[in-house]
Amino acid sequence: MKGVSRGLIIGISIGVIIGAVLAIAALFCIRFRKKRAQIGSSCSRRAATIPIRANGADCCTILSDSTTGQESPKTSGVNGMTLWLDGTKRRSVVSASGIPKYPYKELQRATHNFTTVIGQGAFGPVYKAQMTTGETVAVKMLATNSKQGEREFQTEVILLGRLHHRNLVNLVGYCEEKGKHMLVYVYMSNGSLASHLYSEKQGPLSWDLRVYIALDVARGLEYLHDGAVPPVLHRDIKSANILLDQSMRARVADFGLSREEMVNPHASNIRGTFGYLDPEYISSKTFTKKSDVYSFGVLLFELIAGRNPQQGLLEHVELAAINTEGRVGWEEIADSHLDGIYDVQELNDMAALAYKCINHSARKRPSMRDIVQALSRIIKLRHSRKHQRKALPTTLEEVSIDMDHSEIHTPTAAHLRGESIDSIADAPED
Ligand SMILES: *[C@@H]1O[C@H](CO)[C@@H](O)[C@H](O)[C@H]1NC(C)=O
Ligand SMILES: *[C@@H]1O[C@H](CO)[C@@H](O)[C@H](O)[C@H]1NC(C)=O
Ligand SMILES: *[C@@H]1O[C@H](CO)[C@@H](O)[C@H](O)[C@H]1NC(C)=O
Repeated sequence: MKGVSRGLIIGISIGVIIGAVLAIAALFCIRFRKKRAQIGSSCSRRAATIPIRANGADCCTILSDSTTGQESPKTSGVNGMTLWLDGTKRRSVVSASGIPKYPYKELQRATHNFTTVIGQGAFGPVYKAQMTTGETVAVKMLATNSKQGEREFQTEVILLGRLHHRNLVNLVGYCEEKGKHMLVYVYMSNGSLASHLYSEKQGPLSWDLRVYIALDVARGLEYLHDGAVPPVLHRDIKSANILLDQSMRARVADFGLSREEMVNPHASNIRGTFGYLDPEYISSKTFTKKSDVYSFGVLLFELIAGRNPQQGLLEHVELAAINTEGRVGWEEIADSHLDGIYDVQELNDMAALAYKCINHSARKRPSMRDIVQALSRIIKLRHSRKHQRKALPTTLEEVSIDMDHSEIHTPTAAHLRGESIDSIADAPED
């Protein structure tokens, strides 16, 4: 009797213990699964925007990139991003490369059957597209090229999708259907730099803004040359390929494309735009990072002089260089649209830098990294000069007063510019 009850007690205790262990195990199991599901979904969400490789700080700016545009007023911060991604996810078209693939029909609807042309790129027309999600994007229809197969297009999309920087016009999707190849980009509401420099419709760009634009472009190019793996050569830097967003921040467009249409029919195998071409590239047929630097130098002179290479920009520059001996006195080429309102020191510094970039010997030209530093220094000096003149006690006041003097009126713009000033101030001095 005793033996039986003892056995019973032992049996029951073992049963209870096993039961408890099983229950705890089950509980853990459920929790773990939940967590994994959460991680999983956030991973796939990330993968959709930040494919393969995001370069340090850039991954943070992507989120703001597609939400700061005036084209998406309802969105703010991460929520807006999620909303947009949910839209693309619903169509379950996030491709293996992590870049959303759009159905042809949707882009056709968003561009009113491809009637909303906003530009003509080197590879075909560009359309403005109003997506059902409320997002405005730019759709670049690539000229159909029988030589380029589907696989090459996929490779191109994967390459472009990996490049993310706040000073690049980032790829946000693509479409490959009915024999058509399309690339979907962030929409840039203020158009090209060329349109601001040369169109009478637009108000003239202030000198202060021109220096910021130069720095933005330099940063975008520095990323392509030194941040991207493998490095990317732009091969067609010019004012028409620099786009401005609603707060007048500049981004480099039309990079990373390797199409045959780029071939200039007048000089076999030479790609690029007349007037921006590195003479060393023309003679050696080898395009290097320093060839991009040459084109960038021409772009700097465009910003200073407000004329393009087709209007004899470089002849103008060479004449001035004789008088200045590459040092001071570059004011004579200053854009007349500036009405003499510019900082003489800044203009001379920028022109001297530009002149180094167009040195005929590629080895003598600075790297994009050197250029970013030189331009940052110009802006840093500008701020310290302003601070000295006003001798204000607190930095907060100084920054807001600087903002008042700038040409930017929207609060977002002031915020963005404030950010870039901070990052300049933080940059290590050399
Ligand atoms: C779109 O335009 C093409 C010609 O450009 C026309 O053939 C086609 O019918 C149009 N489609 C729609 C849906 O309007
Ligand atoms: C840039 O775009 C914004 C919004 O579209 C506009 O308010 C602003 O005037 C533009 N700036 C210039 C210089 O055109
Ligand atoms: C190129 O740079 C070198 C060294 O800075 C300079 O001596 C030379 O005059 C430059 N050449 C031209 C054509 O600007």
